[in-house]
Amino acid sequence: MRGRKWVITLLLLGAGLVGAWAMADGQKQSMDDNMDDLPELETLETHASMQAPKETLPNELTVVPVVSPGEYHVPPAIEDIPESKYGDMIRFGRNIFINTQKYAKRYVGNGLNCADCHLQEGRKPYAAPLWAAYPMYPMYREKNHQVVSFQERLQDCFKYSLNGIAPTLDSDEIKALTVYAQWLSTNIPNGTIVAGRGFTRIDKSRDPSPFNGKVIYKQYCAMCHGEDLLGKKYMDRPGYMFPPLAGPDSYNKGAGMHKIKTCAAFVKANMPLGRPFTLTNDQALEVCVHIWQQDRPWNPKKSMFMNLFMPVTEG
Ligand code: HEC
Ligand code: HEC
Repeated sequence: MRGRKWVITLLLLGAGLVGAWAMADGQKQSMDDNMDDLPELETLETHASMQAPKETLPNELTVVPVVSPGEYHVPPAIEDIPESKYGDMIRFGRNIFINTQKYAKRYVGNGLNCADCHLQEGRKPYAAPLWAAYPMYPMYREKNHQVVSFQERLQDCFKYSLNGIAPTLDSDEIKALTVYAQWLSTNIPNGTIVAGRGFTRIDKSRDPSPFNGKVIYKQYCAMCHGEDLLGKKYMDRPGYMFPPLAGPDSYNKGAGMHKIKTCAAFVKANMPLGRPFTLTNDQALEVCVHIWQQDRPWNPKKSMFMNLFMPVTEG
């Protein structure tokens, strides 16, 4: 590790006023932080390893912003990946995470990559960062009605978010992704709830209107994700420059993102890209109702009838 030490902010769930205050404060700080970061995002420090991409690393695809220490956990830097078998697994996991289309192709049924939703290679606070997730498992999940391991949790994102097939627990893909997540969470003790986990909090002050959602979408999202919500592909290579929010290449109806509240929590903290926390709770919910109304692959766990006539209040 490099010489720096950082404080991991512990958020104690349900700790009454102190907890609530800390959350509100954390949120505000993250907002300020995100705002302050904006100009810097243009002149990102690129790591040395990125200027001379190694053969197996799709480094040209991403830039990793340097997070200010103290506020959030700072995962180890890419140049800290050791030259060993362990390092190879980290690299493979990272490759899969950033370019799932290429490195885990046979398990993916749509046009997305893990990092399309878990931004900045799974490092960004409030974009369900891997470093905050890993220490929480095994954990009870409502969706599965049982305690799931981290590896089983990964399988679910393959099945629903990537509308694909879950790699088996002993597959190299699941192993590598787990090693990558464990490496990012270096120094976080197991079971610790760290600041920046998941997305953000959403409360509504009125019932969301799909009509407003359409207007908000046009104003804030359409220039990247397209008027039709189908995303935009690269001109010169395969894959999406702006990922689809609907249609056959999007997540399916069993995905977390298909829950209006989860979608809103993600959108509020992360979209429009580069301008997080600009939409209000109600606006985020409304734009997500609009997204929710679009066609997308069915939930593989539900019947055709359920897929066609699911109630609008889901999530
Ligand atoms: C379409 C967006 C999307 C894609 C693509 C996606 N995920 Fe997720 N992922 C989510 C959402 C949304 C959640 C949180 C769901 C919830 O609230 O239960 C999540 C949760 C997770 C979690 C648990 C987070 C936590 O804090 O407990 C892990 C780990 C994870 N995803 C890994 C992956 C991996 C690995 C991939 C690629 C194979 C992937 N995800 C692809 C949207 C996505
Ligand atoms: C400046 C371009 C841009 C704008 C504007 C923008 N997005 Fe995105 N969005 C992206 C990119 C790029 C990603 C993939 C993540 C990454 O590469 O960092 C993404 C990812 C997403 C995802 C998760 C991946 C998926 O395809 O499901 C959702 C949901 C999303 N955006 C919704 C929105 C909504 C809603 C708005 C408007 C409020 C919006 N975006 C505005 C560029 C944009």
